[in-house]
Amino acid sequence: MARLRIGVLISGRGSNLQALIDEFAGASAPAEIVLVASNVAAASGLARARAAGIETAIIDNTDRQAFDTALDARLRSSEVELVCLAGFMRILSGRLVETWRDRMINIHPSLLPAFPGLHTHERAIAAGVRFAGCTVHFVRPRVDSGPIVVQAAVTVRPDDTPEGLAERVLAAEHRIYPLAVRWIAEGRVAVAGERVTIAGIGAADRVLINPS
Ligand code: GRF
Repeated sequence: MARLRIGVLISGRGSNLQALIDEFAGASAPAEIVLVASNVAAASGLARARAAGIETAIIDNTDRQAFDTALDARLRSSEVELVCLAGFMRILSGRLVETWRDRMINIHPSLLPAFPGLHTHERAIAAGVRFAGCTVHFVRPRVDSGPIVVQAAVTVRPDDTPEGLAERVLAAEHRIYPLAVRWIAEGRVAVAGERVTIAGIGAADRVLINPS
């Protein structure tokens, strides 16, 4: 079977990108990363892509509409089939998101729909929730919303700091993002309205609890 062609968008360190690179490195993997694009020329994650021999693109960020047009063109010229946002810190236009509807996913460091946006770990601790976590979801125009593929829940400790919680959630992110991409690449995932079904994967496998 042909490997699913993945484009990854990053703005920073790219640790989730690295998890995807590691997962899909082998020739027998169901997906291959064909492009890593960034709006930040200095994003350290770009070095991870280069080290893995993956094509990179830096797309100028100055004008929002020009950026979206250039990004869309670049994704198409690399024949990308699935776009993975991985620490991509720029809001895409509704038009671009609709163009890639059900072909674009994101990882967010909270149990959505709780705590969309920034500073999720500080906010989770301040709210006193007992579970924090992360979510892989299909992208919709409203930021950090969309059909949920998989989540990981991480227990909040009584003495947790945002940094400590972030570290444990990040480790969980590195587990669920490759998992979600693998399921999509295997052709198991369907989006119906705002809900995701995954053939052959039980409900219990779609939430990891304190993964180590
Ligand atoms: C992750 O916490 C991700 O969930 C969020 O931004 C962070 C990116 O980290 N969207 P990295 O660049 O993948 O290391």
